Amino acid sequence: MTDTLLRGRTLSFHRWPETVDDHAAYAYEEDGALLIRDGRIVAAGTYADVAKKAGEGVKTVDHRPHLILPGFIDTHVHFPQMQVIASYGAELLDWLNTYTFPEETKFRDAQHGRRIARLFLDEMVRHGTTSTVAYCSVHKASAEAFFEESHARDMLNIAGKVMMDRNAPDGVLDTPQSGYDDTRALISEWHGKGRQHVAITPRFAITSSPEQMDMAGTLVREFPDLHMQTHLSENHAEIAYTCELYPEAKDYTDVYARYGLLGKRSLFGHSIHLSEREADALSDSGSVAVFCPTSNLFLGSGLFDYQRYRSREKPLRIAAATDVGGGTNYSMLRTMDEAYKVIALQGEKLNPFQSFWQITRGNAEALSLVDRIGTLDEGTEADIVVLDAGAIPAMRLRMETVGTLAEELFLLQTLGDDRTVREVYVSGRPAKSDMATAAA
Ligand code: GUN
Ligand code: ZN
Repeated sequence: MTDTLLRGRTLSFHRWPETVDDHAAYAYEEDGALLIRDGRIVAAGTYADVAKKAGEGVKTVDHRPHLILPGFIDTHVHFPQMQVIASYGAELLDWLNTYTFPEETKFRDAQHGRRIARLFLDEMVRHGTTSTVAYCSVHKASAEAFFEESHARDMLNIAGKVMMDRNAPDGVLDTPQSGYDDTRALISEWHGKGRQHVAITPRFAITSSPEQMDMAGTLVREFPDLHMQTHLSENHAEIAYTCELYPEAKDYTDVYARYGLLGKRSLFGHSIHLSEREADALSDSGSVAVFCPTSNLFLGSGLFDYQRYRSREKPLRIAAATDVGGGTNYSMLRTMDEAYKVIALQGEKLNPFQSFWQITRGNAEALSLVDRIGTLDEGTEADIVVLDAGAIPAMRLRMETVGTLAEELFLLQTLGDDRTVREVYVSGRPAKSDMATAAA
């Protein structure tokens, strides 16, 4: 494979940026470059330095003056909810019963799953997201469709067949045994195939019987290197119902703890209304709280206390995500715009470097995958997004008064969307422009 040299303004984080002046937290090159070989970044730095390392016949793509960043990572999203997004007027449990569960029954049909998986990954790439942690439907075929599509694109995705055996229509129910068997079959077929990762995915405590939760715990013990994903403390009615269903548990978090579901690879969507005890339990176990701002606002679930979770004595690991279709946008830029507002409503701030850290390196750290994705470091996999802050007329005008990188990032976050995403590379190959060419 010939080398590819991307030239542009490169930005990648080393660690959490404490302030906008924390320049040691990131690497930024005005005239930077990345050398890509066999799907990996083999050199990064100034164009002058990197160009010298390129092999014979290198293909150079000049992205100047645009920004080159690691591809965005969405750590919680429901691929079967593409036709649920923008469903009007309900809080979580009504929304699930009225719109979501009926829609997910359609994924019994493998053909439907294949169509939506294709459209979903198209949409992700168009928005600059190169890795997702996805919930499929309860049907094994939906996960197979997702992995087939993801593998064909050589994307690093983490996904799981949802396990749910009660409190939902028959068309979306499995059993403790079939949920276990199907998850195991997916693991043997897909986990570690190319860049695919299987996640153990009990939907949440309301839709899993104690027997099924036990099976999920067994899977976590049997496959300790897999991720586990579920929902936790999203709204008050959900919390009350969960505590009724599991009266022996101290609180909602304790329900999952009792089945051995807390841990460094465990991702808890929402985690909004946590007591100090619950936050301590998540922190002690290294579990991740996943912030889904557009969803939390849309469903009126509550305000995730990002800065408190970060700065408490026992801090939480935090990831950010769209949660489509409870979430209202596929874009991690739109997501961080809403995150900023959720945090502001609680009297705190998230500076633009922190936002871009979160959707790149921060999310990769939360997934324990930072040695592979989320940075532009040499040796990592070449998942890259190219952003153009002048792509939209209103942004182009505002750019006339922008003087710093921090201001440009904040503009990208506040007004940007898929139009700002000029190009996306997945495993070193152009993916967004390819899609446009194929459609033409
Ligand atoms: N809790 C259980 N399932 C879901 C879901 O699909 N979306 C959201 N937002 N919360 C959930
Ligand atoms: Zn969710």
